[in-house]
Amino acid sequence: MGLGGGFLAVLFPTFFVFPLVVSAASYSEYIYPNFTATNFKFIDNQGAFLFSRNGSFKVAIFNPQGKANYYLCVIHVASTTIVWSANDAAISSSGRMDLTPKGITLTDEQGNLKWSTPSSLRSPVSRLLLSEMGNLVLLDRFNVSLWESFRHPTDTIVIGQQLRREGAMFSAAVSGVDLATGDYSLALTDSDAILQWQGQEYWKLSMDAKAYRNSNYVIDLMEVNGTGLFLYGLNGSKIVIQVILSPSDFRIAKLDSSGKFVVSSFSGSTGTGTQEFVGPVDGCQVPFVCGRIGLCTGGTATNGPRCSCPQGFQGQVDQGGCVPSNGYSLPLASACNSANNGSQLNSSRISYLSLGYGTDYFSTDFYDPVKYGVKLSACQELCTEDCSCVGIFFENSSGSCYSLDNDLGSIISSTTGDGDMVGYIKALVADSSDINKFNNQGQGKEFPVTALVLLPVTGFFLVIVALGFVWWRRGRLYQNKDRKLRHARSISSGDLDAFYIPGLPQRFDYEELEVATDNFKTQIGSGGFGSVYIGTLPDKTTVAVKKIINLGVQGKKDFCTEIAVIGNIHHVNLVKLRGFCAQGRQRLLVYEYMNRGSLDKTLFGAGPVLEWQERFEIALGTARGLAYLHSGCEQKIIHCDVKPENILLHDHFQAKISDFGLSKLLSSEQSSLFTTMRGTRGYLAPEWLTNAAISEKTDVYSFGMVLLELVSGRKNCSIRSQQSHSLENNSNSGGGQSSSSSTSGLIYFPLLALEMHEQGRYLELADPRLEGRVTNEDVEKLVRVALCCAHEEPVLRPNMVTIVGMLEGSIPLSEPRVESLNFLRFYGRRFTEASTIGEENDHSNINLLYPQAYTCATTSTCESPACFSYISSQEVSGPR
Ligand SMILES: *[C@@H]1O[C@H](CO)[C@@H](O)[C@H](O)[C@H]1NC(C)=O
Ligand SMILES: *[C@@H]1O[C@H](CO)[C@@H](O)[C@H](O)[C@H]1NC(C)=O
Ligand SMILES: *[C@@H]1O[C@H](CO)[C@@H](O)[C@H](O)[C@H]1NC(C)=O
Ligand SMILES: *[C@@H]1O[C@H](CO)[C@@H](O)[C@H](O)[C@H]1NC(C)=O
Ligand SMILES: *[C@@H]1O[C@H](CO)[C@@H](O)[C@H](O)[C@H]1NC(C)=O
Ligand SMILES: *[C@@H]1O[C@H](CO)[C@@H](O)[C@H](O)[C@H]1NC(C)=O
Ligand SMILES: *[C@@H]1O[C@H](CO)[C@@H](O)[C@H](O)[C@H]1NC(C)=O
Ligand SMILES: *[C@@H]1O[C@H](CO)[C@@H](O)[C@H](O)[C@H]1NC(C)=O
Repeated sequence: MGLGGGFLAVLFPTFFVFPLVVSAASYSEYIYPNFTATNFKFIDNQGAFLFSRNGSFKVAIFNPQGKANYYLCVIHVASTTIVWSANDAAISSSGRMDLTPKGITLTDEQGNLKWSTPSSLRSPVSRLLLSEMGNLVLLDRFNVSLWESFRHPTDTIVIGQQLRREGAMFSAAVSGVDLATGDYSLALTDSDAILQWQGQEYWKLSMDAKAYRNSNYVIDLMEVNGTGLFLYGLNGSKIVIQVILSPSDFRIAKLDSSGKFVVSSFSGSTGTGTQEFVGPVDGCQVPFVCGRIGLCTGGTATNGPRCSCPQGFQGQVDQGGCVPSNGYSLPLASACNSANNGSQLNSSRISYLSLGYGTDYFSTDFYDPVKYGVKLSACQELCTEDCSCVGIFFENSSGSCYSLDNDLGSIISSTTGDGDMVGYIKALVADSSDINKFNNQGQGKEFPVTALVLLPVTGFFLVIVALGFVWWRRGRLYQNKDRKLRHARSISSGDLDAFYIPGLPQRFDYEELEVATDNFKTQIGSGGFGSVYIGTLPDKTTVAVKKIINLGVQGKKDFCTEIAVIGNIHHVNLVKLRGFCAQGRQRLLVYEYMNRGSLDKTLFGAGPVLEWQERFEIALGTARGLAYLHSGCEQKIIHCDVKPENILLHDHFQAKISDFGLSKLLSSEQSSLFTTMRGTRGYLAPEWLTNAAISEKTDVYSFGMVLLELVSGRKNCSIRSQQSHSLENNSNSGGGQSSSSSTSGLIYFPLLALEMHEQGRYLELADPRLEGRVTNEDVEKLVRVALCCAHEEPVLRPNMVTIVGMLEGSIPLSEPRVESLNFLRFYGRRFTEASTIGEENDHSNINLLYPQAYTCATTSTCESPACFSYISSQEVSGPR
């Protein structure tokens, strides 16, 4: 003990000298040219020579994990996280950084330039600043920024930094020690943030259960802040996707070298962060987690994924992966180019090594099969013809053929799947001279011990068998060649020809639609399924072209089957589908154009007020359209997203419903992470939140909500400042017009409608802009129908045919059942409580104030409808 104490006493002072030196000498946020740093020169500060004002960040020439590679790094001090580095410029401890009026340069010890800021800065550098956010900035003498590390992220973004879509590089490091650009990268697309491995997608933010899509604007930047992770459109003014995390002072998002996108928060001065968000959740979905052909199991288990080699393969996962055990070699992807394609491989030498059923590959969830409805042999042929194909995955039940291109990643062992997918690795059989090396390994089985003993005896016999096998295979390939010729046409003319679906509407080429829309120049709308553009077809008809972006993984065949159904529905109150385009990953729908736009614009907009008769016609037309969808066509269609945005107006205020049938396109999500939630909050029936069955009565509820909005001319959940009906006053005193006309706040109109119905004061519900051009009876009719539609129990809601009858007057109006509408009081109370906390004009704040509300609504696991009270008109349609 005495010895130990003395030892500590010696160590102690030396330990604590460092921080003292740091704080005394170097708490400077600026350095000035000419300045030179090496690790060695600042060895007492572990290479650090620049500190942000309060010491949260430092700039150092630093070697991660004490290894030989040194980098110029910006480091978050408390957690020693590298948040930026000149990552492709490894130097040694005597390599140097120079700050001159021309910028920063890094040179190795021999004086070779390894990295520099852009050589032509606008003006001479007068100083280098490390900002409090951790941004390394070159400033000129007018304090104008010449270059910033925040604009050139490596693999991390921090609070205050934006990852912009254009020109942003965001790639993982090769490893924790080697910071050079690795194979994993993060990219922002029009509609998502995606992870890629060698350019192949393997994850997207929107598929995570915590991610919530707010809108469909084209994305242009990503940010983390104290509240969570956000993707924005319209230059940062509109949230497109958000992930709300618990409040935190410091948070970073990093694509780590293992291929996972991790958001961590750090509180106070504690070094270790909390991982709050990780994607992909299943570690086996990371493409190279087990190296090449390494078999990954247990990706979601707490002890992490485990790696092994599939049967018939051998090797070490940490040394690059697995190779075929016996006599086979993998084709060299580098030897493949368009000139030698097909001819480069002597196809009689190609063999397919089975990985067995119950295996899968990361890309099958993200890319369409190259062909559907084929046999396994045809799938292998396709791969043989293309030298860039290195393996196939084949789904037996659907005959889907997936081709693996370029480099091979890890294999997923799908313990939960139905075992319908089988994988094969393309391999080359050794020359016939090597034949006895591989002769009995055709099935990819382990070499049995008994066989080793028997080998000398059976060797001769086996050689015979093997020769026979080779001869047989070649014969088969020759047969296949004939078949190939016969199939050549269908293969070359695109995979859509692989199946025929009767009743498909007109098919457009993507290029045709590009021309028609003038390269998607004029956007006229944006909905749950994507953006809508105006276009003109060659025959001069105007069309609305919908570019679907929220479609998950959707096979072309399923898509076309649905399109054929939608295309055959014709009704005067339904928007007509003119045609479609399914080319590559593009899915577009071409609709007839509605010159008056959508109901929300006319009803809530600033234009001329909609007269009562027009509102009634719209209500009736919408009801007829829905009635037709529910019972008029061969196949019942539930719309799932009835709202003013989806009711389009034509001349004379003829209403036409759009987007019907599309909800089915979203239902075949392959991942269990995708919830089936869709529809739009504010119009969503309670059963969406209670997990009760969704039926056509769900549309009836939404229709009722639309009716109420037609009556009031306002969103059901809106802030009213003028002419306010104070909900509190009405429900407390039981009567009397609201005393305070200046009261503002959120009004939950369906509750107001219920209360006014109970008092028979319908006229007070009508849009004040009508200035009395409507009677009490007119309003009563719509309000009573609407309240019947809103009954909590779906069976108590009338069906659409009855509603049409009630509106037309052929069926007497039903009496709303107050006992089935009491839930509105509960919603309303929670809703107004929410309004007293935040009075901003933007309802999305309600979700931010009450993250749990948003969680409930997006995961649809909510037990009670309580969370439904924070209703906003945000969309939750689209796959999650
Ligand atoms: C910095 O070095 C450059 C040459 O590398 C020289 O021209 C310049 O005068 C120096 N500036 C200062 C402030 O010493
Ligand atoms: C340093 O300043 C940043 C930004 O103002 C702040 O977020 C952080 O908490 C501060 N750190 C310390 C240790 O005071
Ligand atoms: C630049 O900023 C520094 C520190 O904030 C300040 O002292 C200096 O006056 C500024 N110079 C100009 C030209 O604004
Ligand atoms: C984070 O960003 C969101 C969306 O822009 C915003 O609503 C929220 O207030 C921000 N949080 C903080 C702590 O700044
Ligand atoms: C986007 O916003 C930034 C800052 O918020 C502004 O400097 C820039 O001009 C904007 N760009 C466009 C195209 O509006
Ligand atoms: C090789 O040919 C196939 C079909 O003939 C084609 O699909 C593929 O793109 C070609 N690959 C290269 C690298 O040229
Ligand atoms: C293909 O391989 C076979 C046997 O390995 C050989 O006989 C044949 O000549 C080869 N063909 C070409 C085009 O190299
Ligand atoms: C593959 O599908 C065929 C027909 O669809 C079936 O007969 C066969 O048993 C399936 N094989 C496996 C291994 O599932």
